[in-house]
Amino acid sequence: MINVDVCRAQFPALNQTIDGINPVFFDGPGGSHPSQAVLDAIVGYLSTSSANLGGAYFSSRQTEQTMREAREAAKDLYHAKDANEIVFGANATSLSFMMSRALSKTWEKGDEIIVTALDHYSNVSPWVIEAEKAGVIVHQVRVNEADCTLDFEHLSSLVNKKTRLFACSYASNVTGSIVDIKAAVKVLKSKSNALSYIDAVHIAPHQLIDVQALDCDFLVSSAYKYFGPHLGVLFAKIQHWEALQPDKVAPAKDINPNRWETGTQNYEAMAGLMVAIDYIGSLADVEGKSRRKKLEIAYQCVAQYEHELSRVFLDKIKAYPQITLYGIADDARLNERTPTFSFSVEGVRPRAVSEFFGEQHVCLWDGHFYAQGLIEQLGLSESGGVVRVGFMHYNTIDEIKKFFVLLDAFLEKKRLV
Ligand SMILES: Cc1ncc(COP(=O)(O)O)c(C=O)c1O
Repeated sequence: MINVDVCRAQFPALNQTIDGINPVFFDGPGGSHPSQAVLDAIVGYLSTSSANLGGAYFSSRQTEQTMREAREAAKDLYHAKDANEIVFGANATSLSFMMSRALSKTWEKGDEIIVTALDHYSNVSPWVIEAEKAGVIVHQVRVNEADCTLDFEHLSSLVNKKTRLFACSYASNVTGSIVDIKAAVKVLKSKSNALSYIDAVHIAPHQLIDVQALDCDFLVSSAYKYFGPHLGVLFAKIQHWEALQPDKVAPAKDINPNRWETGTQNYEAMAGLMVAIDYIGSLADVEGKSRRKKLEIAYQCVAQYEHELSRVFLDKIKAYPQITLYGIADDARLNERTPTFSFSVEGVRPRAVSEFFGEQHVCLWDGHFYAQGLIEQLGLSESGGVVRVGFMHYNTIDEIKKFFVLLDAFLEKKRLV
């Protein structure tokens, strides 16, 4: 069980005061906060070990050690078979652009790829841009508008022998809808030899990832979404790292996985990543287990607590007839969604809502969140998208209550009650 007070004590950002107010962070889907231990690890690395790889002196060796350990930690987070299946980069978007350039070298005119309307466009545009260059046909899977889940029938109808790639979000950063990736990969494999590229950026702080169980070819996440620093973390099955060719500078060593990590990497972020993953593991509150085992237990605790937050939010939001919630609203289906909620208020632009809350230091977002396909399909582009409220395991029921007190004040001000 999550002890939220113990968790919150570890995050300086959660304990700050702005204008005499303790801010409320409901912007988890946009980015989480790092714990003090993560900050210490970053400062620790930069204070003593900052160096490049391959040197004949201590800090270079320490840097190599940091990178090895970070790869091991990421391997455990993803349940990869081998740490060398992990590649680091600036962020998820940059890594996806890198992979789209590498994978498209294997495409031929007339091939087909599939993206989805549920996705953040960091997992759409890189593929579409390369497809256009290569004369490859792009299909986009629709969303079921009633509950903002992926339309599996549509997906199934799009897969065929010419399909080369399926790029799909594990969970929507707008509605929190979780995609059954295991089932999607099965559909893909039953009808094609296509590769799967999974965006796990939104799901990573909420649900255990298991690339072996998913049987996906690629999976990417971003550490700043799960209490770490800004760092992209990409998994690929080892055969893909070996067979594909990266764009690299000629003198750089041609060894995996380093040949995919162009330029000087963010080693301090890798130092922070390890600690962030161990922080998640610490939520299991057990001793003497492997890191992976701790993560398995920890994510169960996270889900249990986040479901509690979701139940409170859903129960209260349903009482507002002027509010339309997009996505799964059924308590019985909480394991099909993350605690990320998007809604619109009749007659009000989303920005007006986020500005009102922002003035009270309740941090939430408005807009399209780069999930252009979904916002377009829901017909919300012209009206400014949606308001998004996203919880993390460090949020509290009292914060949700405060949200509703302020929502009432906002609606009263707008005379919408
Ligand atoms: C679901 C999802 N995918 C991808 C991204 C892009 O990640 P990054 O900022 O690491 O490029 C985001 C960022 O918000 C996201 O929410």
